[in-house]
Amino acid sequence: MTRVFSGIKPTGHMTLGNYLGAVRQWAEVDQYRGEALFSVVDLHALTVEHEPARVLRLSRQVATLLLAAGLDPAVCTLFVQSHVDEHVRLSYLLECTATDGEMRRMIQYREKGARARAAGESVRLSLLTYPVLMAADILAYGADEVPVGDDQTQHVELTRDLAVRFNQRYGQTFVVPRAVKPEVAARVMDLQDPASKMGKTTAGTGGVVFLLDEPEVVRKKVMRAVTDSGSGVEYDPVGRPGVANLLEILAACGGGDGSGPAVLAEGYATYGALKRDVADAVVEVLRPVRERHAELAADAGYVDGVLREGAERARGMARGRVDGAYRAVGLMGRG
Ligand code: TYM
Repeated sequence: MTRVFSGIKPTGHMTLGNYLGAVRQWAEVDQYRGEALFSVVDLHALTVEHEPARVLRLSRQVATLLLAAGLDPAVCTLFVQSHVDEHVRLSYLLECTATDGEMRRMIQYREKGARARAAGESVRLSLLTYPVLMAADILAYGADEVPVGDDQTQHVELTRDLAVRFNQRYGQTFVVPRAVKPEVAARVMDLQDPASKMGKTTAGTGGVVFLLDEPEVVRKKVMRAVTDSGSGVEYDPVGRPGVANLLEILAACGGGDGSGPAVLAEGYATYGALKRDVADAVVEVLRPVRERHAELAADAGYVDGVLREGAERARGMARGRVDGAYRAVGLMGRG
């Protein structure tokens, strides 16, 4: 049976990028593909400057939004990473498998590290080792598939390298996983800055659509999206990234009944008309998620119960493999 694992960090409010690039597929397809686990990876939120109360609040909000988006606890396992010790236990063994050069090559480390240094902040060691913890998240469960957006490709590649290396050195222990990306919207760009990914932690949020934004706010953000100079609507991700981003969002939100962005472009003469349709499509896609979130948020006991049970199931799935890895590297079993 296919094992699926994916995760999301509670570092900010969930964005349209998270939803179209990952979460929607988890809910609509991936949870039914076999045995699926989805995690609010809260330990990963500590790799950068963080406010404890905010991480706590966002962890619950992200879990609630995942349920609102359609993850069904009767079908998949939803849990909080820090509730399952196996992630950190395994992470250390993988730190002993990875090299420092490998870690320093990771694009996200280089970008986020450079930003922190430029702002005069120190860089936490965990920002460097973070992809190893991510590898542990995946390998602990023997996941075959990791549904993620485009920005996580390098981390999943590293996970594969570590699995292969560990298996070669210490004997067959881990499944070598592969990344699975959506056909469109694998990288939703910031509406104000189409050269950058739409991110949870972007400083200016005018170009970021959050799942819980009011419909009027969504409309405003879309209508103010930066388009490109040049007239006519054309799908050209390199030359016209702003318009291409809008077309991809529209295609992902079901505008044009399944047509790809290039075909959709043919139906528009002006940027204004395109933006209006994008705004409508996004509002409609987010509406049921917002409504269900409001219901679930009123019942914190239910969400906590789901997470408790999820953690117990997850622990049961990870324990044996992580114990096996400890024995394989020569550590004394706990008897
Ligand atoms: P995170 O929390 O940044 O994002 C969660 C998921 O959303 C996708 N995503 C996007 N997709 C398209 N366009 C965007 N603008 C966009 N922004 C985010 C991400 O690719 C991701 O799939 N390191 C991971 C979390 C993680 C993880 C794991 C994922 C930790 N352990 C194990 C898979 C397996 C991260 O930072 O995702």
